[in-house]
Amino acid sequence: MVFVFFGPPGSGKGTQAQYLVKKYGFRHISTGQLLRQEIQNKTALGLDIKSHIEAGELVSDGVMLELVKNVFRDKNSEHVIFDGFPRTVHQAIAFEGILSVNNLRVDLVINFEVSFDHLLERVKGRLTCKTCGHVYHEVNNPPKNVGVCDFCHGVSFEKRNDDEDSALKRRFELYKTETQTVKDFYSDRGIVVSIDASLAVETVKKNVEEALADLGIVS
Ligand code: AP5
Repeated sequence: MVFVFFGPPGSGKGTQAQYLVKKYGFRHISTGQLLRQEIQNKTALGLDIKSHIEAGELVSDGVMLELVKNVFRDKNSEHVIFDGFPRTVHQAIAFEGILSVNNLRVDLVINFEVSFDHLLERVKGRLTCKTCGHVYHEVNNPPKNVGVCDFCHGVSFEKRNDDEDSALKRRFELYKTETQTVKDFYSDRGIVVSIDASLAVETVKKNVEEALADLGIVS
């Protein structure tokens, strides 16, 4: 099955997806992570998009759709979470075509609802393990042992360049003006479940699992 995790920057999509990967072996496709990988590897695409991402702008639909097509060339998994994609209605429509070629469709959209007041504090405190990419928060969701990743035992953490104030402001604006309409696209298909993502990480995990259990995906 294909799930879309939908919500503003910092709403906890990645945190919840990483949990489902570890607990149930779901595949997690974060388009933001795919793009950051291209930048880190200094590929032609990475060099091309670096300034865009760091300014908080969206990457073009054409580039995003090529990246997503490649996801299905790589391998198949029973359950795949798309985190951060689609982000425009054009992407959502084209995604239907990509999925249908692979005999798939979007089965469930989990809409992470959080007031914008919470988001700034979350993004500002975000730390990412440099070795395995696991996401933490300095206060809300720190590693169990200070300075050591729970999963890979790496000891280096980093902040994202696009979490700086001006880029973040632009990301919030684009979420409101471009991305929110994608929710209406999926609501019309009756596949959106909204959860209160302003609650504590553990409570949100439980609520996401309940939404998946309602479809018989986890028990
Ligand atoms: P992307 O990487 O997708 O960023 P985003 O959507 O802005 O989302 P974030 O990763 O910021 O937040 P999240 O919801 O995953 O929250 P997280 O779990 O980390 O995209 C980056 C860029 O790539 C875009 O700006 C764009 O340029 C480009 N891009 C990507 N996809 C694209 C597309 N489809 N089209 C065009 N361009 C695209 O949590 C945040 C923090 O809060 C963490 O510190 C976490 O520990 C903490 N936290 C999580 N849950 C809770 C909780 N319940 N309570 C308290 N703290 C919590």
